[in-house]
Amino acid sequence: MKGTSLPPFRLAHQGKTCSDSPHAHARLRAVALVFLLSAALSSCSGIQSALDPAGPEAEDVATLFYVMLVGGAAIWVGVVGTLFYATRVRREPHSERTAGWVILLCGAVGPVFILGALLTYAVWLLPNMRPWTAPGEEGGLRQIEVTGEQFWWRVRYLDASGGVLLETANEIIMPVGERVLFSLHAPDVIHSFWIPSLGGKMDVIPGRINRIALEASKAGVYRGVCAEFCGASHALMAFTVEVLEAEAFDAWLQQRLAADGSSGADGLGLFLRHGCGACHTIAGTQADGKIGPNLTALGARGSIAAGTLPNTQDNIARFIRSPEEIKPGVHMPSFAMLPEGDVETIAAYLKGLE
Ligand code: CUA
Repeated sequence: MKGTSLPPFRLAHQGKTCSDSPHAHARLRAVALVFLLSAALSSCSGIQSALDPAGPEAEDVATLFYVMLVGGAAIWVGVVGTLFYATRVRREPHSERTAGWVILLCGAVGPVFILGALLTYAVWLLPNMRPWTAPGEEGGLRQIEVTGEQFWWRVRYLDASGGVLLETANEIIMPVGERVLFSLHAPDVIHSFWIPSLGGKMDVIPGRINRIALEASKAGVYRGVCAEFCGASHALMAFTVEVLEAEAFDAWLQQRLAADGSSGADGLGLFLRHGCGACHTIAGTQADGKIGPNLTALGARGSIAAGTLPNTQDNIARFIRSPEEIKPGVHMPSFAMLPEGDVETIAAYLKGLE
């Protein structure tokens, strides 16, 4: 028996070519469907997906999505089923009485019941999806202040009294299993702070401070983005969120608090001489500019220019020479007029900062 029998589909198609078989078409459609489905589903996981939650807030968002999906599917099946019944099963006219019932049930009772149930569920879920913190809880939460700039993220870790412990840019390092309070500011235009794996979005609005508390339940690297159109490089202001075990986080914090940018004196000298320090800060050096991203420990970041380019010495040099080419609308001027060697030395110095 083994090895001698043909699979059923080959028996069915003996003597036929693929193109003239209705089964072949059905199979092609099935393959296309599987392909589309797998393409759609593959985008449901990963470091930037609301459907691959890594924290309690994100789990609520994902659950809400699936509940809404089931509700939407029920409505769709009802509508298409009725359409099918009316056009294929019973095509003759219905009595006025029946029509009245159909309108009442499908047009009023059904939608009110389904939409009412979905609304009730969503409203019931709202309190979980955070008042940013329970009353009195704010003092106990670690606070990170995030400022939406054009087009990057300023990240400041605050101490218990609201003072700045350390500043970084386009990266958030946070401990696993701890709710962290993010205070969101913007100096000029509206952005939206969104880490899909950890929770919902929160608008970042000039003139006010919005707060959102997020917790990561799994260590790992996630990706955050700006979710509100804010200008030419709106799509080029991502950030990474690295969730570390508590001890690793404490070690990182201590290391950063002790950060000393004094190595690579040559590069630092050029950095200061060409005025980079007027806009950028490197902890432990005279560079203390506040306009651009803080570059302390830049070399340890995975990417530069807010998730736009991999963090390599070449890319840093490229960005220094012509930032506008990489990031339209960026406020940093071009430094293409600097001697090539100076740019390379500065880039090497920055890449070496860890
Ligand atoms: Cu910032 Cu869009």
